[in-house]
Amino acid sequence: EMSMVTGVQTCALPICQTTLPREAGWLARGANRRMSKMVRALTGIQPSGPPHIGNLKGMVEPAVELQESTEPFYFIASYHAMTTLKDPELFRQYQLEAAATFLAFGLDPKRAALFRQQDIPEVCELSWILGTHINLGILERAHAFKSAKDKGKEINLGTFSYPVLMAADILLYDTNLVPVGKDQKQHVEMAKDFAAGFNHRYGEEIFVIPEPVIRPEVATVPGVDGQKMSKSYGNTLGVFTPPKQLRKRVMKVVTDSKEMADPKDPDSCNVFALYGLFATKDEQAELADRYRAGGMGYGHAKQALFEVLDRALAEPRERYLELMDKPEQIEDVLEEGAAKARSVALQTMERVRSATGLGARR
Ligand code: AMP
Ligand code: TRP
Repeated sequence: EMSMVTGVQTCALPICQTTLPREAGWLARGANRRMSKMVRALTGIQPSGPPHIGNLKGMVEPAVELQESTEPFYFIASYHAMTTLKDPELFRQYQLEAAATFLAFGLDPKRAALFRQQDIPEVCELSWILGTHINLGILERAHAFKSAKDKGKEINLGTFSYPVLMAADILLYDTNLVPVGKDQKQHVEMAKDFAAGFNHRYGEEIFVIPEPVIRPEVATVPGVDGQKMSKSYGNTLGVFTPPKQLRKRVMKVVTDSKEMADPKDPDSCNVFALYGLFATKDEQAELADRYRAGGMGYGHAKQALFEVLDRALAEPRERYLELMDKPEQIEDVLEEGAAKARSVALQTMERVRSATGLGARR
């Protein structure tokens, strides 16, 4: 019996990088025939709730920046969201919102393929094939499964095999780089291992070995309760929450209970951490001084946070509302994206089918 985790270690590329090094073309060498092509970046977002600023800073902004140096394949991870969301109307709404988010923050649909996971159902086929090569023990060590189990949550088969489907997403499209927040690092590492194991067994030309791209400064954005911001924790600041409600949410960010007069520590404060994601260096230094000096209440810091948030989000919010007003336009983009994605997917499946014996010998 074969274990997909063979200890095959591929490249030692520094995985924490904000911009792609010019020479990153070498990354594509996992498959020689694709060497001349551009580096492909791929990532997904679950349409399981309205996008929040953890998504924005951890993934959307870095992913949109990568369009300058890569060929972006970004998709709405509907099958993944289905492991937790079972309301058809909300589900459709969140899919549109996720797509509109990428576009509102500047993803250029001419350069990128923006698509829905379910529009290329071959991903399910690949997930099945990968799954027949993966031992349960590996999946039992996945964070999401472990924490669901620890919390006594109901775990469906989709939740358990979540990392397999995610590996299929990545491998189906010859992905070189996967821009994600830190919480997804383990999943991308698993995809690398599955790919290496599969290539080892069937031929080094089958899958490109991907690398995660994680920005250290936004690896984990805290939520209003100080835990990781997450759709499933109810602690988010929504990217497109109307300003009045957003302000109310910002006022809920937890702080310690120091009095107005007390000197405060910016480095251990959630409000300050969030402020740092949107404020300039000068603004940060200035607010940090006010923390340390005392005489400033947390209400003031929260107001400052709201203001930098609103400044950054106002324009994208307008674009977003325009887009959501014309869902047909979003649909058109998604359809075009699916066509681009499908042509790559079909080639990969051809290799996989042929190599495994599902298809004819090539
Ligand atoms: P999800 O909403 O779980 O589909 O996440 C979409 C992307 O946002 C993934 O790349 C996550 O790693 C990233 N992300 C989600 N929450 C956070 C957070 N609190 N901090 C940084 N990145 C995050
Ligand atoms: N699991 C990811 C998340 O929750 C979403 C996702 C699904 C993804 N498939 C992917 C991210 C492939 C990157 C690559 O954030």
